[in-house]
Formats: sequence, structure tokens, C-alpha cells
Amino acid sequence: MLPVRKEIIARLASLTGLPEPEVETSLEIPPDPTLGEYAFPCFPLARRFKKAPQLIAAEMAEHDWPSDYVERVESVGPYLNFHVRRSYLYNTLLPQILREGPVYGILAEGKGKTVVVDYSAPNIAKPFSVGHLRSTVIGNALCRLYRSLGYKVVGINHLGDWGTQFGKLIVAYRQWGDANRLLEEPVQYLYHLYVRFHQEAESTPELEEEARSWFRRLEQGDREARELWEHFRALSLEDFQRLYRYLGISFDSYMGESDYNDRLEETIELARSRGLVKESEGALVADLEPYGLPTCLLRKKDGAALYITRDLAAAIYRHETYSFDQMLYVVGAEQTLHFQQFFKLLELMGFSWAGNCTHVPFGLIHFKDGRMSTRQGKVIFLEEVLKRAVELAREIIEEKNPSLNEKDSVARAVGLGAVIFGDLINDRIKDVEFDWEKILDFAGETAPYIQYSHARVCSILRRAAAEEMISANGMDTELKETTTSGDAAPLKVHNSFGEPEEETLIIAMAHFSEEIVRAVRDNRPSYLARYLLELARGFNKFYHNCPVLTASEEIRQRRLQLVAGVRIVLRNGLALLGIEAPQEM
Ligand code: ARG
Repeated sequence: MLPVRKEIIARLASLTGLPEPEVETSLEIPPDPTLGEYAFPCFPLARRFKKAPQLIAAEMAEHDWPSDYVERVESVGPYLNFHVRRSYLYNTLLPQILREGPVYGILAEGKGKTVVVDYSAPNIAKPFSVGHLRSTVIGNALCRLYRSLGYKVVGINHLGDWGTQFGKLIVAYRQWGDANRLLEEPVQYLYHLYVRFHQEAESTPELEEEARSWFRRLEQGDREARELWEHFRALSLEDFQRLYRYLGISFDSYMGESDYNDRLEETIELARSRGLVKESEGALVADLEPYGLPTCLLRKKDGAALYITRDLAAAIYRHETYSFDQMLYVVGAEQTLHFQQFFKLLELMGFSWAGNCTHVPFGLIHFKDGRMSTRQGKVIFLEEVLKRAVELAREIIEEKNPSLNEKDSVARAVGLGAVIFGDLINDRIKDVEFDWEKILDFAGETAPYIQYSHARVCSILRRAAAEEMISANGMDTELKETTTSGDAAPLKVHNSFGEPEEETLIIAMAHFSEEIVRAVRDNRPSYLARYLLELARGFNKFYHNCPVLTASEEIRQRRLQLVAGVRIVLRNGLALLGIEAPQEM
């Protein structure tokens, strides 16, 4: 936490008698910068002090606030507004940003704590759909955000690798399967077989019984069934992993639904011992009606366990293995009821940590451009979406900057960035409409806009470096990852603090880590996405109104430092969302 924020929180806590964490959560960032950098709402104190919040704010403002960090404190209505010293921002914070570089904004709030993040989790033989895209993108951003706060993060891909669809697949593959096509594009081909099975089963209903029988054989460990299943699973996994690599994502565990097969009985027994299980027409169910939830099936009458049974077993296993402090399930809102039932059962089974499990739901996604949805029936394959995004990005780059070096890697960063940011900028709970033009608009609320701003920043710094003016000041002239070592000449002390556009930038940079904390607290990467967008906008306004390279020496130095700071924050922030920032575009 920045020392200025720390100081404000500590002093507010001692003045009001509120605990620090409570002060911290209520401390706001005023929407209008003329109101200062921090605002404390006094409403919650009204009851405690038996006074109107306006009065409390006015009285608190009289306190002796000024310090090395705080210049003045004013009351505006029920708010207490804090104005931070410019000399602190320009002479202490700015050098700190430049010194810390890639680690600026990274706090250690989560040190010693473990979070499990269950995300992506596609189903084998059913397509990796855009719904899984949302889980993948949001889950990956959350993993990076938590990790940046020092949490130990365990990213788990709970693969959908078990279920009756494998009986169908085995039947379809034995009848119509082509080994080479399966090797070429496993995920698509298995889905194709799955669809074909359903088509054929319409005229040949016996296929259904055959599929059920093959699934039983699989469950009983039949060698042929088992081998085919393993083959399908391994190929699909490789295919998924290729996509994850392309997106720069990796998981700590790929334990999927099938990996809990040998723990299901135990799990059901445990539920039974707590009096939670009833028999109903040969099946086993858990009655949750007393808790206002529908009854749920734990085992079918043919002995097959269900999705929720596997989730129970998996959660128990994960708690034994990782003893997590928190577990997040990044799964679409359509599964809300499932998670309510599942968490309730955990609690009733006596696991006090059930309360540390959270469903992080998100809305649906649809494409404005019908093109994506017609190629493969109703289904959209993630791979196609990504390829198309990169192709479109490549076309735009070709048109805007035909002489650019390394067009391929830039197109990849921009195309993938557009898709990722196009998702993350939305409050996750809302549905998203995917509109190619919108997400790739270089002037819109997009990754390409931020990336382009970042590339502009880099170009200013390159030109300045070329003029060999800033190297002595400890800025990384070659734009290397590493920051300068301690023996670089100290930055010059600023005595004048510049235009409003400069203020906006330095203040926004000061709030970076707070935005990360906020995003983690609500599991909403959208906060950080929005923040980066505002910072990029602030930079463009600044650049439009405040000359940098042609300014007089003192101002030029100050502005170059600001620009270097912007580069660091944009780059670090994009990385936390899983987006690359090319130096040229
Ligand atoms: N495979 C599931 C689906 O596609 C998502 C699994 C989510 N994770 C979990 N532990 N239930 O709907």
C-alpha cells in the first residue's frame, strides 16, 4: 500500500475508532479530481457519534492533517476529502514507479494464503465454446491478479472428461471413425462424431442402448473402452493445451471429473452418515428442500454418479491437498443453482470451509456477426474466434502501418488482446455482445486502443533516448524489462508540478495498486480494465495538450518521467489481464 494511503487510513481509524480494514474498504477515490485523491464518507459514523454526517465531516476536517504526504483535508457535504502533496507525487512516487518498473503496483496482501481457481473446464467431445472462453479469460485474469498480491494460486482445469457422451463417442468411432482425422483435429472431430451419433440415432434408436452399454463397460474398466477413452482424452487435452499456450495460459492441475471416480462412494457415504441421503426409485438423492433448494440427485439408479457428486469429491480432495483459504469457481451464471446446492451440501456434510468457496458467475456471450455461428452449426469453436481476431488485427496493421517489423507477433498480441479485453471490460455478470469492429477499434474502449497508447509512449521514450537526453537520469533507455540499478544518477527534484493533464496521470498511477486490490476483492477484473482505459485516455489527452520532447528542459524531464511511468503501469496492468503490450504497432 502506498504510504500516503496507509497514513490516511491509520489516522482515520484512530480518530473515528473504526477498525482499519473498515476504514480501508470505505475509503473512496473521488470521481472528480478537484475533490482530491481520496474521500472518506462519513455516513456510517452518524449513528456512532449521533451527529449529522456533514457535521462530522466538517469537524474532522479541522483536525491537524497536513504531513509529508497530505497537503490539506476539506469537507464537502458528508465527505472528507484528502488532497495529496504534489511534491510527494512527483518527487517520491514517480521515482518509485520508475525504480520498481515491472513490480510497481504489486503488493503482498495475500502472502501466506492459498486460493484455488477452478476455471476454463471444457468438456471433451463437446466443443470448447465461447462460454468456456469467458471462463478462461476471466479465470486467467483472476489468477494473475491474486498472484500479483502474493497469494499462492492453484489454477485447476476441471476437465469434463467423464459421462455418457463417451459411450456415444465410442459407438460412433467404432462405426464411422477415421483415425487420421482424429489425430488432425481431435476436438472438432470428436464433436463431429458426437453430432453424427445423434443424427443417426434418430433413425436407429438402438444406438442409444449400445452407447449406454459401452459407457457401462467403460465404468467397469473394460479394456477396449478404457483405451479409446484414454486416447480421446489425451488427444483432446493436447488440443486444448495448444490453445492455452497460444493464449499464454497454464494450469497447475488438470484433474478432471474422471479423476474422482474412486472417491465417489466415500463421498456419498459421508453424506449418508450425516443423514442427507434418501433413496428414491432406486436412485440416491439429497433433500435440500428445508433449505429452500430443490432436491438433488447424487447417484442414478443405474449407479452412475453425477456432476455434483464429482464436485463434492473434488472440493474435499482439494481442501485436503491444498488447504486453501479460498476457492473460486469461474463458471457461467446458468450454473448458479448447481453451486448453491453444492455449497449447501458441503456445509451440511460438516465442512466449515464451505463458506470459503465462491461461485464467480458470468453472463452469456453472443456474436453480432452471424458468420461465426454458421460455420459449425450453433457451435462456436474458440480456436476459430481467436484465429479470426488475429487475422483481422493483421489486416488493420497492414493498412495502418505497412512497414512495421514483426507484424505477426504484433497481430497476435492485438488480436488476442482485443478478444480478452472485449470480454474483461464488461461487468462479468452482464451478457456480452461480441462485435468484431467494436473490439478491434483502435479508438474505442478496447485493448488495441490501450496497446496503441502504450506503443506511442514507447516511441516518445525511444526518440528521447535517441536524443540521449534521458539516459543519465536512470530511465531504461532501451526499454528493457529490468529497471535501472541503484547506482544510476538520482532523478532531479521537481519544484513545479505542471498542467492538469499531468496531474491526472500521476494521480491515476498512484491508484494502480488500489485498483488491483478492488478487482480482487470483488473478483471483477473489469475494474482494472476500466482503469487502464482511463489511464490510456489520460495519456492521450496529456500528449495532445502537453508537448514533451519540445518542452523546455525542466518540463521536458518531468514529462518524460511521467511518460515512462505510464509505460510501466500500462504494461504491468495489461499483463495482469493476460494481454501483451508490443512496443510498436
Ligand atoms: N465442464 C463444466 C461445463 O462445461 C464446467 C465445470 C466447472 N467446474 C466445476 N468444478 N464444476 O459446464
